[in-house]
Amino acid sequence: MIEARYLASEGMVARFYDDKARSHGSAAFDAGRDYMIPWLQRGGVGPGKKVLDAGCGPGHWVRCAVDLGAEVVGLDISSEMVRLASKLVPESKFFVESMDRVPFGDDYFDIVISCGSMEHSTDIARSRNELYRVCKDRSGFILPMPFDGCWKYLEDEELPNMERFGDAEDWRNLLLTPQVRLVEEWIVAGPHPDYCAVMQKAEG
Ligand SMILES: C[S@@+](CC[C@H](N)C(=O)[O-])C[C@H]1O[C@@H](n2cnc3c(N)ncnc32)[C@H](O)[C@@H]1O
Repeated sequence: MIEARYLASEGMVARFYDDKARSHGSAAFDAGRDYMIPWLQRGGVGPGKKVLDAGCGPGHWVRCAVDLGAEVVGLDISSEMVRLASKLVPESKFFVESMDRVPFGDDYFDIVISCGSMEHSTDIARSRNELYRVCKDRSGFILPMPFDGCWKYLEDEELPNMERFGDAEDWRNLLLTPQVRLVEEWIVAGPHPDYCAVMQKAEG
């Protein structure tokens, strides 16, 4: 991982995405159901599953996961993003909070998804550990980092805290701890290649 020249604070990241929500509305970051649904199914999202979307943005992944029958909680540091998500998925519960402080107990969720969001965290190892904490043993993580759709609105902008990620290896090194095993990984090609991983929390 590359040393950051400076790190944007949580407040700066929240303001950046509040502005993005205001300027792009609910169309922001819509990767398309054809992209999201197979991903979610691959990770086991379906009826009876409790799912957390950490960094849910305007809620497109939450919408798809709810449509697959899951019970989904969304969390985002940007209140404007949460406002959009609450409109898109009124039946879900949302929190304006950092993924460093998930307001749930240990092992609460069956599946945690976080799509193109963790890379903005000011303390990324802490965010990762927090997401692992709230996920049950033998349950899953779905982590596209960052995903292709992110870039189409943001081509000319410097995304907060992104400069630390040089390549897929950086993500693999960050995500793989003794707590998890890799189920599947692949790279989505594009101007900014994306590292995608499905992982499972180990027992104990
Ligand atoms: C590129 S958008 C992706 C949104 C959504 N996951 C999607 O794919 O449509 C990144 C989102 O992560 C949120 N975010 C960034 N840092 C966060 C943090 N520390 N905790 C929670 N959300 C965060 C931003 O506010 C933003 O909504």
